[in-house]
Amino acid sequence: MNNFAETHRTVPIHPKILYYGTPVILLTTLNEDLTVNISPISSSWALGDHIILGLGINGKALENLKRMPECVINLPDASQWEQVEGLARLTGKNPVPVEKKGAGFIFEKDKFAHSGFTQAVSTTVQTARIAECPIQIEARVKHIRIPEDSPHFAIVETKSTQVHVHKELVAGEHYIHPSSWNPLIYNFRHYFGLSAELGKSYRSET
Ligand SMILES: Cc1cc2nc3c(=O)[nH]c(=O)nc-3n(C[C@H](O)[C@H](O)[C@H](O)COP(=O)(O)O)c2cc1C
Repeated sequence: MNNFAETHRTVPIHPKILYYGTPVILLTTLNEDLTVNISPISSSWALGDHIILGLGINGKALENLKRMPECVINLPDASQWEQVEGLARLTGKNPVPVEKKGAGFIFEKDKFAHSGFTQAVSTTVQTARIAECPIQIEARVKHIRIPEDSPHFAIVETKSTQVHVHKELVAGEHYIHPSSWNPLIYNFRHYFGLSAELGKSYRSET
């Protein structure tokens, strides 16, 4: 064993949870009766104007996206964690799927009323935005893939069609002020915000 491996010893484990710290999204999708559902999720990544989402196959979000392939990716900030957690046990699925029932989920039709969030009309999709979320990304679904060897979730590829940002976060015309934006981070099922800035990339223009 070299010196580096000795000072950074590892232990092989099979973690029950592998959510290593990603921003929380409140995904809004359109129900069959054109009301709007909210689904908290944390599995996503963005590259250019494409955002990839990881969605469980038993949730209302995926059912809605298959019927109406558009959504809004609303990003709450760290201060809104309790409102997010207030949605954690709720599903828009009725009846509640057996797997979700076992995990303590209950059906809630109106998650806006339940959480106290407010709907804002979108400009490029029918699904409403969440007015209180500082960043709201309207998007269309381009592709849904369910992995053959792991058919309990779907990889949903979306493309942003319009981004809305609370005014106080906007720097110049085309940037979001990194020091003003404090995303809510889901870190091994605990909620965190960001700590103070450490530095910036050589590519930063702000
Ligand atoms: C903070 C947080 C993060 C979550 N991340 C995901 C996720 O990435 N993907 C997912 O399918 N479910 C995730 N869930 C669970 C969903 O919220 C849950 O499946 C719920 O049923 C979604 O609501 P719906 O059934 O009305 O769509 C997360 C829940 C919480 C509270």
